Amino acid sequence: MDLGLAGRRAVVGGATSGLGRASAEALAAEGCGLVLWSRTARALEATAAELHEAHGIEVATVVADAADPDAAHVVTEAALAVGPIDILVSNAGGPPTVDPTATDREAWQRAFQLLATTPIDLATRLLPGMRERGWGRIVAILSSGVRQPIPELVYSNAGRSALAAWLKTTSRAVAPDAVTVNGVMPGRIATPRIHELDSGRAEREGTTEDEIREMQIRGIPAGRYGQPEELGTLVAFLSSARASYVTGQLIAVDGGLIAGL
Ligand SMILES: NC(=O)c1ccc[n+]([C@@H]2O[C@H](COP(=O)([O-])OP(=O)(O)OC[C@H]3O[C@@H](n4cnc5c(N)ncnc54)[C@H](OP(=O)(O)O)[C@@H]3O)[C@@H](O)[C@H]2O)c1
Repeated sequence: MDLGLAGRRAVVGGATSGLGRASAEALAAEGCGLVLWSRTARALEATAAELHEAHGIEVATVVADAADPDAAHVVTEAALAVGPIDILVSNAGGPPTVDPTATDREAWQRAFQLLATTPIDLATRLLPGMRERGWGRIVAILSSGVRQPIPELVYSNAGRSALAAWLKTTSRAVAPDAVTVNGVMPGRIATPRIHELDSGRAEREGTTEDEIREMQIRGIPAGRYGQPEELGTLVAFLSSARASYVTGQLIAVDGGLIAGL
């Protein structure tokens, strides 16, 4: 199937690792040009060089921290200097774990900046060009916690739910301009972030990371953690010409983890 992505250009956040990296790979493999961003210049340069080498596409990079209120401005300026942006893959790092009865104000502000305000600000800055050209894709990487809250990740559950509400609302406003807006909800996909969460829980509970992973896997009908490529493929499809009639949807990539409808 030709996804019709050749010659398009995408901004991809958190692109040096895990789900962002897999999304960038899947887009690059279809001939889509990229503007990659995260906090670490060296990792960005290495990722850009590898993707250019492997797929012959044009790759630019920009350093920004999604928890910084200026991030959306910085990323937009750099991206539009390269050329028109057709696709936004909205992604960055996750917030810390916390006892939901012991959260604090500063951490809420940081979590909402990271998970809702920066992604909304960035999408809002890139939408006008997409709407004028009559073609655009926004795909946000959320979490299964939007559907089934994760006990130790209340900052994530709440921040990403706010973004999900914005995605759904905005999808209806921009659909007449052939711009689609969707979200993907990873369950447990083997990345450094999941390793960090599992090892942190093992330490808190006085057990091993292997035992935590086995316990988590017992709750996943597919019987394993996912691989980043399994999410990257869906991001590429939702970004493609082929997904032109799919909008306002939140789609889980979770091996059946979410138990509800
Ligand atoms: N993996 C899963 O199964 C899963 C499940 C649910 C939700 N999620 C969420 O999906 C997102 C991606 O997760 P992942 O598993 O791919 O994590 P990962 O492998 O740790 O990758 C995170 C990426 O985001 C960048 N990043 C981290 N903090 C950032 C910040 N403040 N501003 C800009 N970039 C930042 C990292 O680079 P730098 O550190 O150099 O900035 C890296 O490129 C996270 O928000 C995570 O919480 C993941």
